[in-house]
Amino acid sequence: MGLLQSSSSSSRVAWVLLLLLLCFCELPFRAHGGGSRKLYIAYLGHVKHDDPNDVVASHHDLLTTLLQSKEESLASVVYNYKHGFSGFAAMLTTEQAKELAEFPEVISVQPSKRHTPTTTRSWDFLGLNHQMMGSDMLHGSNSGGEDVIIGVIDTGIWPESRSFNDAGYGPVPSRWKGKCQVGHDWGSTNCSRKIIGARFYSAGVPDQFLETDSLSPRDHNGHGTHCASTAAGSAVEAASFHGLAKGVARGGATRARIAVYKSFWGLGFGNTATVLAAIDDAIHDGVDVLSMSFGVDENSFGVLHAVQKGITVVYAGGNEGPRPQTVRNGAPWAITVAASKIDRSFPTMITLGSKQQIVGQSLYYRGKNSSKSSSGFKVLVVPVSCDMEILNGTDVKGQILFCTMQPGDQDVFQQSSQYVRDGGGSGVIFAQYTTDLSFTALDVCKGIACVLVDLDIGKKIASYMDDASSSPMVKIEPARTITGKETLAPKVAMFSSRGPSPDYPAIIKPDIAAPGVNILAAKENSYAILSGTSMAAPHVAGVVALLKALHPNWSSAAIKSAIVTTAHTTDEHGMPLLAGGLPR
Ligand SMILES: *[C@@H]1O[C@H](CO)[C@@H](O)[C@H](O)[C@H]1NC(C)=O
Ligand SMILES: *[C@@H]1O[C@H](CO)[C@@H](O)[C@H](O)[C@H]1NC(C)=O
Ligand SMILES: *[C@@H]1O[C@H](CO)[C@@H](O)[C@H](O)[C@H]1NC(C)=O
Ligand SMILES: *[C@@H]1O[C@H](CO)[C@@H](O)[C@H](O)[C@H]1NC(C)=O
Repeated sequence: MGLLQSSSSSSRVAWVLLLLLLCFCELPFRAHGGGSRKLYIAYLGHVKHDDPNDVVASHHDLLTTLLQSKEESLASVVYNYKHGFSGFAAMLTTEQAKELAEFPEVISVQPSKRHTPTTTRSWDFLGLNHQMMGSDMLHGSNSGGEDVIIGVIDTGIWPESRSFNDAGYGPVPSRWKGKCQVGHDWGSTNCSRKIIGARFYSAGVPDQFLETDSLSPRDHNGHGTHCASTAAGSAVEAASFHGLAKGVARGGATRARIAVYKSFWGLGFGNTATVLAAIDDAIHDGVDVLSMSFGVDENSFGVLHAVQKGITVVYAGGNEGPRPQTVRNGAPWAITVAASKIDRSFPTMITLGSKQQIVGQSLYYRGKNSSKSSSGFKVLVVPVSCDMEILNGTDVKGQILFCTMQPGDQDVFQQSSQYVRDGGGSGVIFAQYTTDLSFTALDVCKGIACVLVDLDIGKKIASYMDDASSSPMVKIEPARTITGKETLAPKVAMFSSRGPSPDYPAIIKPDIAAPGVNILAAKENSYAILSGTSMAAPHVAGVVALLKALHPNWSSAAIKSAIVTTAHTTDEHGMPLLAGGLPR
């Protein structure tokens, strides 16, 4: 008794101290307007009513009790989640969110967080050859997954692309319950037998991201169209990016149907609230596969409900490699995808002033009307460092910049390329450990030559510059496309995030690697080459669709197991597959 008494009195002292501390901490917050509201996600578990309207009514009852006003309750809600799971997104103060979390029916309340998004050849490389479709095991007994519906949560879609031509498709599967949400520059005819549904989620998105976009499922970013056409694009002859990677562009499941859920806006703003709204509707609509090329850890409960309803969820594993424990989307019930290189490369001839020729990698092309002066030798400049603080002020007009980069130093790549472009320069040569590119790097290279070389070649350039008696010169030719064994594929891309998952370290992630380096797929009415785990995930979504068409009764666990246990772990010489990155 005595012991109990003394411990409880000491804990009372601790409580008083804690309360004092809490009050002390919160005072300045209150003084500066503690009433400011933020977007919160409340999760209430399974839906407890058959009628979605009753689910919504239960949310409002709860909020009316919390806010003590029906009007305030209605005004605060941004999304009601009412099909696949019960919950809502609402604008609340910190105190209100804390209080809400105490209600017995509420499982969790968390702030909505910002999320950012993470070909022709790639499918041949995976052994799903277009010409061999009839004899191929996966394509053999079905027509490319025609009755399977792939939901793509992303930046929308470009319906006019040839990759989404619906010629020869049967009627939309009768079990489909989705809709075609019209909006600015999106009419009801934009949905078809290929794009069978399209929705968008703009509530809770700051205006600055909506201003540069259309309030509709239309994709002005390019990311969503690229991913959708990789998973399920129809076959298109002679697709290329300015002549590079020319061939038949097609998705993995060429005949699968696409359902579009636009949750990302502008250059790629999305949040927990918009993504959960998309997952909730996708469960209601009846998609079979969900392809998600962005980081989503806090949405795991939405994904869990999707998987419980028989939907196979495929995630991108993130582009934060080669550091360990960077993999995103580690939920064990979904498939997390790493990015690998394929057996295609884009060699780019570099000629030094000494006539020595060396080879880098780029997607450099010369536009139809680019002037004669854009070819030929240029002055090569080397700053002490390509960090912006040091580079800023260097004259690059008509010149080519030479930089050495640390692995994964995408910011330096991005900023110095932009600097050269803005300053009227001709190009940049980056030396780094490998020549992998990540998708973030490409737009800044429009109109200039961005060439990657490995460190050995970087050393050759540096020693040429040391030896040069007059100002060093360099000439860069447009890239060529080569495919085949000499390109040393497959290998996990350097930028691809590595396991184990920081959230679930005991679970081995990513689950599988798929092509994600220099992938050609649809962008608006033409084709673009992008890299990233964002590109790898829809490759696996396509394979899932083919498997679902062959084995409609397989569970998501069975499908994941079939994919993971039949994957190659060695290359064609029997050597283990490796991952790019710095050796320790
Ligand atoms: C999509 O809808 C817009 C606006 O109604 C229209 O101009 C465009 O032609 C449509 N595209 C297709 C492929 O139907
Ligand atoms: C081609 O030249 C015209 C006129 O100089 C210019 O307006 C246009 O933007 C150029 N096109 C490209 C692709 O550079
Ligand atoms: C570069 O320098 C200019 C002028 O000195 C300055 O206005 C600009 O902000 C600098 N840019 C960066 C990225 O540091
Ligand atoms: C799949 O399941 C349904 C319903 O459980 C059953 O009727 C059907 O025969 C099954 N199909 C196969 C191919 O096993």
